Amino acid sequence: MTSPTLLHLDASARRRSFSRELGDAVAGAWRTAHPGATYLHRDLALTPVPQITEAWTELCDHILEHGITDPTRYREAVRTPEQAAAWAVVEPLLAELLAADTVLIATPMYNFSVPASLKAWIDQVTFPRMSLAGRRFVVAYARGGAYGPGTPRHPYDHQERYLRDFFAGHFAIPDEAMDFLGTELVNARVDPALAARRTAHDASREAALAAARKTGGAL
Ligand SMILES: Cc1cc2nc3c(=O)[nH]c(=O)nc-3n(C[C@H](O)[C@H](O)[C@H](O)COP(=O)(O)O)c2cc1C
Repeated sequence: MTSPTLLHLDASARRRSFSRELGDAVAGAWRTAHPGATYLHRDLALTPVPQITEAWTELCDHILEHGITDPTRYREAVRTPEQAAAWAVVEPLLAELLAADTVLIATPMYNFSVPASLKAWIDQVTFPRMSLAGRRFVVAYARGGAYGPGTPRHPYDHQERYLRDFFAGHFAIPDEAMDFLGTELVNARVDPALAARRTAHDASREAALAAARKTGGAL
């Protein structure tokens, strides 16, 4: 049996971050449960992945046109120096993703969705009909408000909803191979208008940290 590999991505623009806190709790529990296993960490905010370029789109079109579905063959799409430069960005990101059994994404909600830093990574590593079936995805999120089922803001949750739909619809990840856990109402710490929700935020944070430790230890 090969050693398990965890790829841990961070996307918050700040160090004192609630999504980083949760992601670290998942990763810490996972590392305790799997001593000696391979742990890969990439900070998409500290070291941003560039936006895709025109040459990247040419690689993608070639892969689509030639029906290439095996990622080990993507390199065949490189035909120009510009495409080689685009591939040089993709290759290490893709290698990390394909090596991972579990992908842990720690992400804030920015403007109802995920940060551009995370979206840039998704755009770089995603190619047509690329299945990642067999892998597990864990998302540790933070957000300023409350977006759970039954709340008025639920329809505006394009953070969890987007990631769930994308993993299922593009990467063929079934619902049971995804875990979502999050700290809500973080803005209650700073927004006087939300001061009355501070207790609810504290409870959300405690519950999310407990879920993170449990999830990380069980992966
Ligand atoms: C650029 C930006 C946009 C944000 N947009 C939203 C939003 O649409 N909804 C929300 O509930 N909170 C929003 N927030 C608040 C963050 O989701 C919240 O501070 C969260 O804790 C950030 O994650 P972090 O603690 O990991 O940095 C936003 C914060 C920033 C900096």
